[in-house]
Amino acid sequence: MTTYIPGAVRLYGPEFANDPQAVYAMLRQQFGRVAPVEITPGIYSHLVIDYRAALDVTTNSGEIWSKDPRAWQATLPDTDAARGLMGMIGYRPNCLFSDGQAHQRYRRVISDCFAMIPPYRMRALVTEYADRLIREFAGTGRADLVGQYARLITLHLFNRLFGRPDADSAALTASLNGLVDASPEQGEAATAKFGQYMSELLHSKYQQPGDDFTTWLLHHPAALDHDEALHELTLTVGAGNEPLVNLITNSISRWLTNARFAASLTDGALSIQYVLQEVLREEPSMANYGPYFVTRPVEFHGRWIRPAELVLVSYAAANTAPAVRPDGPRSDTGAHLAFGAGDHRCPAADPALLIAATAIERILTLLPGLRLAVPREELVWRHGPFHRSLAELPVTFTPVRPDQPGETPWTSSSPSPSTPSAATSPANAPACAWPATS
Ligand code: HEM
Repeated sequence: MTTYIPGAVRLYGPEFANDPQAVYAMLRQQFGRVAPVEITPGIYSHLVIDYRAALDVTTNSGEIWSKDPRAWQATLPDTDAARGLMGMIGYRPNCLFSDGQAHQRYRRVISDCFAMIPPYRMRALVTEYADRLIREFAGTGRADLVGQYARLITLHLFNRLFGRPDADSAALTASLNGLVDASPEQGEAATAKFGQYMSELLHSKYQQPGDDFTTWLLHHPAALDHDEALHELTLTVGAGNEPLVNLITNSISRWLTNARFAASLTDGALSIQYVLQEVLREEPSMANYGPYFVTRPVEFHGRWIRPAELVLVSYAAANTAPAVRPDGPRSDTGAHLAFGAGDHRCPAADPALLIAATAIERILTLLPGLRLAVPREELVWRHGPFHRSLAELPVTFTPVRPDQPGETPWTSSSPSPSTPSAATSPANAPACAWPATS
């Protein structure tokens, strides 16, 4: 939808990034359950901001609702802003943009491939990469847990799951991280690098099958052709990486600034699962990323929606919407839609939770005296409409030199003035052996 809608509110820029919940509350008050928004300059969408309405969209796909964006794409102007959206909402033959039987076929491939990875193996891999990355900055006493940790751990992991040697993860990391907040030229270069990584990956697995995600996908009974295989793998890393990075860092930032969580490693009051669930409900990483389209004109919770108009489900707003009817579906019971719902609900929710919990646990366990380097209000959030995403997560901790011969894993390089009191710091967490450098 490109025509200007009076009253449409910007879903990008610093004002939205600094306080998205204030914007959702204002939209609710002004428009009710579905609101008009501008998602990038000159491009508009309907935004579903109510829990019941979000369920109506997501659990009714196939009848009124479709995931196929092609009719909408045909209406877009030839502008940088519109082209910039194609990475997120441009049609590709994969499960995210398909309906009906095509959707089921594509989705089964991804679900079946994830089911081949035993949780203990996933946990061991995350632990291996987490420890390797933490070791690189553990002696310095400070780190940016977005750039030096979360953005690297997820891509190392996908590279390994796909069956490539660790040496190749630099190419995947450089290309995908290169797309984050990139200028159009940098974005083009990063896209080309990513394409090269994917085509080398597929070529290598056609030549030499292995015990890995790519091989399982290529040999799945669904018999994907080359193009379909490429897009399904791209979706796996594309849909998996950004929300995982944000789930990990949003949870760590919340843990470190909330006494309920910070005390719990020592007193055992709350587990990491608790902070994960709170972040999924109140600050889900896929904040406004549920693209849907209607198959015929409909009046939906008070707004007219026509085919070829974009509808985005705001999982973040739906989760926090006040319940209107006490007996209806509601999120204040602890339920949430952070993984979507219905046919297109995230097929990797369980592995994603395991990966995030392990990555968070390694940081909290291995870095004593961990705290934010700036007050939480000063953290910088990225400005896009779709994700709730920190630009950086600067932290300090007591420097540790885990590999120094003759010392325990927890020997401090120097006493740290930043170590919080025992009551609020995981510093006194029971020591755990740092694994040997591999
Ligand atoms: C291993 C990591 C992950 C992978 C591989 C993954 C993959 C996918 C895929 C393939 C889909 C499309 C499903 C379909 O259309 O049938 C999907 C949907 C979705 N995922 Fe995930 N995901 C991951 C982690 C996450 C995380 C951490 C979140 C949020 C906290 C998340 C939230 C969602 C949501 C909200 C949808 C529905 C989108 C929609 O309504 O169109 N995912 N995911």
